[in-house]
Order: sequence, then C-alpha cells, then structure tokens
Amino acid sequence: SKLPQIKNEPFLHYAPGSAERAALQDELERLDKQASEDPLRVPCIVDGKDVWTGVAVRQPMPHHHEKSICVYDELDEGTVKSAIDGAMRAKTQWASWPQDERNAVFLKAADLLAGKYRQRLNAAVMLGQGKTAWQAEIDAAVETIDFWRFAARWAEHIHAWQPPENSPGVWNRMEYRPLEGFVSCITPFNFIAITANLPSSPVIMGNVALMKPAENATHAAYIVYDILREAGLPDGVIQFLPGNGKIYSEATLTSPDFAAVHFTGSTAVFNQIWRDVGERLDTYKSYPRIVGETGGKNFHVVHHSADLENVLHATIRGAFEYQGQKCSATSRMYVPRSLWPQLRQKLVEQVEKVSMGSPMDFRNFMTAVINERAFMRVQGYIERARASSDAHIICGGVADMSKGYFIAPTIIETTNPHYETMEQEIFGPVLTVYPYDDSVDAEQSFEAVLHLVNQTSGYALTGSIFARDRAAILKASDTLRDAAGNFYINNQSTGSIVSQQPFGGSRRSGTNDKSGSPVNLMRWVSPRSVKESF
Ligand code: SER
Repeated sequence: SKLPQIKNEPFLHYAPGSAERAALQDELERLDKQASEDPLRVPCIVDGKDVWTGVAVRQPMPHHHEKSICVYDELDEGTVKSAIDGAMRAKTQWASWPQDERNAVFLKAADLLAGKYRQRLNAAVMLGQGKTAWQAEIDAAVETIDFWRFAARWAEHIHAWQPPENSPGVWNRMEYRPLEGFVSCITPFNFIAITANLPSSPVIMGNVALMKPAENATHAAYIVYDILREAGLPDGVIQFLPGNGKIYSEATLTSPDFAAVHFTGSTAVFNQIWRDVGERLDTYKSYPRIVGETGGKNFHVVHHSADLENVLHATIRGAFEYQGQKCSATSRMYVPRSLWPQLRQKLVEQVEKVSMGSPMDFRNFMTAVINERAFMRVQGYIERARASSDAHIICGGVADMSKGYFIAPTIIETTNPHYETMEQEIFGPVLTVYPYDDSVDAEQSFEAVLHLVNQTSGYALTGSIFARDRAAILKASDTLRDAAGNFYINNQSTGSIVSQQPFGGSRRSGTNDKSGSPVNLMRWVSPRSVKESF
C-alpha cells in the first residue's frame, strides 16, 4: 500500500487542566463573544467564490436562542444552477487526478482537523448544535477525521481490485470512473462528521458534489468546507449551498446532470426525493444513485440473564447522550417484568442525577434540543403520554424554552407495546419501556418479545440485546437478523466507529450503504470493463 498506516484517531479527553481543554475554552469564549457582538456572515460558495444572495438567515444557538452563531446567505435558484454548471466544468480536471492525489487532499484535511482546527470545529458544534465537549470530540474531531482517512484507504482498495483472470493474448481491466454528472449531498444537523462525509465519499472517487448543509449546522459545515479548501480541494469540486431545501431540491432534481443523491435526514424527505426522481427518470442520462440514511426506532432488549449495571449505563448513554438526537439513539426498551422494579429504580435514580445546561459548562451531560420545532414535537409526545391511559411518565417530562430548548431526560413506561412512542421516531430525550411478562415461561416470553421487536416500527437502524446467556444472544441475533443494520450485543445502540462498525440500516431506515466502509464508496463509481487483445 502507498498510504501511511491508517488507524482510528485517538480521542482527547479534555480533562481539567489539560492543554486541549484550555484551547477549547478559548475557542468557545471567542465564538460566544462573536455571536453576541457581531455574528459571522456565511455566504454560498460557488467555484471558490463567495456569493451573497441577499437573503440573510440567522442560525440560533440551541441553548441560548437569542444568540446567533452565524448569519448565512440562503441559496436561491440561480445560485444553485450556476453551482451545477461550475461543478460540471470542474469535473473534467478533478476526475483526471490520480487517486493518490485525490487521497492526499483528504489525508491533509484530516491532519489539519486533527491539529490546528480541532478545537475550532468542536466549539462550533458545541454552540451551534448543542453538543457537550465529549459529544463534539467524538463527532467533529474523531469521526470526521476517520471518515476522511478511511475513505482514502478504501478508495485505494477499490482501485486495486482488477479482474483476476486473463485469457491468452487478452488483458482485462476495470476502470473506476466517477458518475456522469454531479452528486447532490443533503446533510443532517446532528453529526458534522456526516455533513463532511456525504460530499467527501463521492468526491474522493472523482465526482463533483453540491453540499446542502442542514440549516441548523451551517456554521460548522462552513468550517468543514474551509478545511477542505485549505487542504487543496480545487474550486468547484464541492459547491457550498446553505439554506432552503425545497428550492435546492427543485433546482438540482430538474438538472439533466443530476447523477446521484447522498442523503441523511428524515424518512419523509427521502421518500419525497425518490418520488421526485422517479417522475423525472426520462430526463436523466443514467439511473440516479439514491443513497440515504433516514430514521430509526432503536431498541434495547433485555434478557433475564443480563448484567443490570451494564444495561443501566448503556441505556442512559444510548437514550440521552446528545439529547437523544442521534439517528441511533435508544428509544424503545423491552425489559422482563421480573427485573423491571429493580432496573426502574436504578434508571430513575441515574436520570435524576443527569445535569443539563449550557455546553460551555463541561460538567453538563446534556444540553438543549436543536430548535423550536424539535422542542414542540418532543413536548407533544410528552403531553400526549401524560394524558394517555397506556403510558406513564416515570421521570423527566419537564420542558422549558425560555432561554434555550431544554427538555429533561424522560422515561415513559407503557403497557401497550405499540403505543406511539414505541413506534414513532421522536429524535429527543425520551425513552419508552415496555415491561414484558416473564412469569410463566421466561424463555418463551423472551422469544415472543423478540418477534414483537422485529414487527414494531418499520425501522431497522440499530438495536441491542443484553444477555449473559449465550443461547439467548444467538436467538436474538437470529430473530432480529433484519431488524437492525447495526446490531449490538451488551452495548448501547449508539456510537459506531468508522471502519470498525460500518453504519446504516434497511427497511424505513435507509438504503444501508454503510458509511465508513467500501460499500458506500462503491456507490460513487460507474466502472468500465475493458478487454484488450494483443
Ligand atoms: N454513527 C452514529 C452512531 O452510531 C450515528 O450516526 O451513533
């Protein structure tokens, strides 16, 4: 291999008194001051040039919504169209770069982020997306760096695969061409690593991309874009287009150069993209690649042999880290009734100790949810649970948006395994527990509950089984084979690591093209088989 050895980036711990903590605090204070006095202005960027469209939109801080972390100029139709034209012009050059040279851009970006920009990007997602220092570190630093470095490694592997057989006088080969057109990348607010990865995966394989960051992550996405630029990404290869998703979709999907979409977001929006693409199939050069990761309704299933301390800690982390706003967040749980009183008491004790507040205070385990819409949606679930005879709120349930969008970690107990919070994605700090009857035959009840888990919600992103009994683990792995793309045994349902646990799910959770693996990168090439005779 020509590449340097590639390993997962080590985590920094930001311990009190450490140099990294001091650096992060400096960045936080600088950014907070800037937000209070004169928020950063963020443009659209087309062919490397700033474009000011004149429609300024503020990005509020979730924990303090009067402050704006930036004010961005929103895309309009003309800007998207000129971005497409510019990207198509940039493509000829970029596609002709040797793979090593394209890899070098992303390896350099990873080094820049690991070094001089680490605390800047961490601070941006802490204040802009409401992450704690630890949640920022695992996303903005480690996962983003890993995505870039491993993309280079997998790109090299893909090119290395050549047809192993040649007949006498014949030389067979595969050319890994990029797609014929541009890739549209629609990115989520909840992981800046995904924001970085969605355009980077196609681009490292020689494609050009349009990047439409989530409105609530524009500021951090802009920093990512700048790092790629400093690393040597040529103008026009990624076009930066913040703002309105509807105008963006219309302008991209009506272009004959549209070749693919790389998406992370809601199931509803992804379904709409499929429909819009389907209607216009005749207008495209090729069948577009539609790759997406959508929602989840991720489960923890507890067997009576489980280690309850492990269940407790994994569940608190899975359900409440980043306020339950990971697509992988634990949101439904199945516990044998024989264990429930004990586990319930431990869960409530722990949840009541959870500290919530500003991300600037490093002692907090949780901060605010992303925006008012999220706040209202989650509060709606809590209020309906309070009024329902099927559900009982056992802790939390308190919400306050006077300064920031704060919702206390909430646990609902239900007697109805199909109660709405067992079925629907909430994307907030709400866990619902269904205690299942195991009084007559514990193994039979466990088997029945596995079938129930498999048939609930329609999503299949992540899920976990907790058991010490090997037979129970095997039974769960088998019965839940299609119920989760990322399946965990005695681990929380969140926290996949690039290249160690390639990420993605099927059913209503997406196309399962595993980010952080060669499976995903293969979607961005349209190989040509060449046979040459001598
Ligand atoms: N990869 C993240 C996790 O596993 C979710 O996107 O938590």
